[in-house]
Amino acid sequence: MSAVAIELDGVRKSYGDKTVVDGLSFSVAAGECFGLLGPNGAGKSTIARMLLGMTLPDAGKITVLGVPVPARARMARRLIGVVPQFDNLDAEFTVRENLLVFGRYFGMRTYEVEKVIPSLLEFARLESKAHARVSELSGGMKRRLTLARALINDPQLLVMDEPTTGLDPHARHLIWERLRALLALGKTIILTTHFMEEAERLCDRLCVVEKGRIIAEGPPHALVDEQIGCQVIEIYGGNPQELHSLIRPYAQRLEVSGETLFCYASDPEPVLAQMRGRTGLRLLQRPPNLEDVFLRLTGREMEK
Ligand SMILES: Nc1ncnc2c1ncn2[C@@H]1O[C@H](COP(=O)(O)OP(=O)(O)OP(=O)(O)O)[C@@H](O)[C@H]1O
Ligand SMILES: [Mg+2]
Repeated sequence: MSAVAIELDGVRKSYGDKTVVDGLSFSVAAGECFGLLGPNGAGKSTIARMLLGMTLPDAGKITVLGVPVPARARMARRLIGVVPQFDNLDAEFTVRENLLVFGRYFGMRTYEVEKVIPSLLEFARLESKAHARVSELSGGMKRRLTLARALINDPQLLVMDEPTTGLDPHARHLIWERLRALLALGKTIILTTHFMEEAERLCDRLCVVEKGRIIAEGPPHALVDEQIGCQVIEIYGGNPQELHSLIRPYAQRLEVSGETLFCYASDPEPVLAQMRGRTGLRLLQRPPNLEDVFLRLTGREMEK
């Protein structure tokens, strides 16, 4: 296996006059977990689909596991496990039948698929649902089946688009544990997520994408140190604008998001002192995290 699992160089994609991926370049080393973060519409799924040859780039070069994509995408796809953003299971088939059909798509023989089905069902905690039709599963169960299905061909690389969206916290922790076990086996993972905790826990490196461009890249903790590097006090319950002017002299930075005022300060004490005695406020002092980085870098305006 080549030491570089994924390489993108100057990749572009537009729909009509809208540029969705704007000259993107990055590489992912074999065995690495690489995250793509960014607001809705940033281009993450488009990038994921381009890695699979399912969306064609307008320009640039993509190599996946040493295979040029899209030119030889079919060959690359045989080595990749895919979790699309939206489940595309066959609703009328049972859990087991879905795995059998998918395995055959990879050229596996029925007995070969049957051999791995128990471990996949265990991975997804769907042992008791083997004969249930997909249409009878809950949303989270379907997601877990999609995750298990992605492993059927024992892929070297996993391309996961929001793998744990829709999972309950327990299931999410279980999947994190299992993805870490796959990384320990030397698999490469590229994932998109809106769960900052997921990115912080799993990713060796990540990039934040906005409007199809990388606006920051690095290991999660380095990004938190570089971009924030001080304590955070979340203030909720008062009038954020009024509190804003009160605290401003004591804060390095202040941001209002919805009803919450985020105060970034290397010394939180004077800020907390200003808040003392005020009723109806809820204060949370905490170390900075990746969510602060995300909010800082991508602003708070949503794509319309
Ligand atoms: N087939 C398509 N035709 C036209 N526009 C598209 C198509 N696919 C995606 N887009 C546009 O490309 C942009 C990026 O979409 P993409 O799905 O890659 O975003 P994303 O980062 O995955 O967002 P999310 O976090 O909401 O999943 C959006 O503005 C979207 O409307
Ligand atoms: Mg997406």
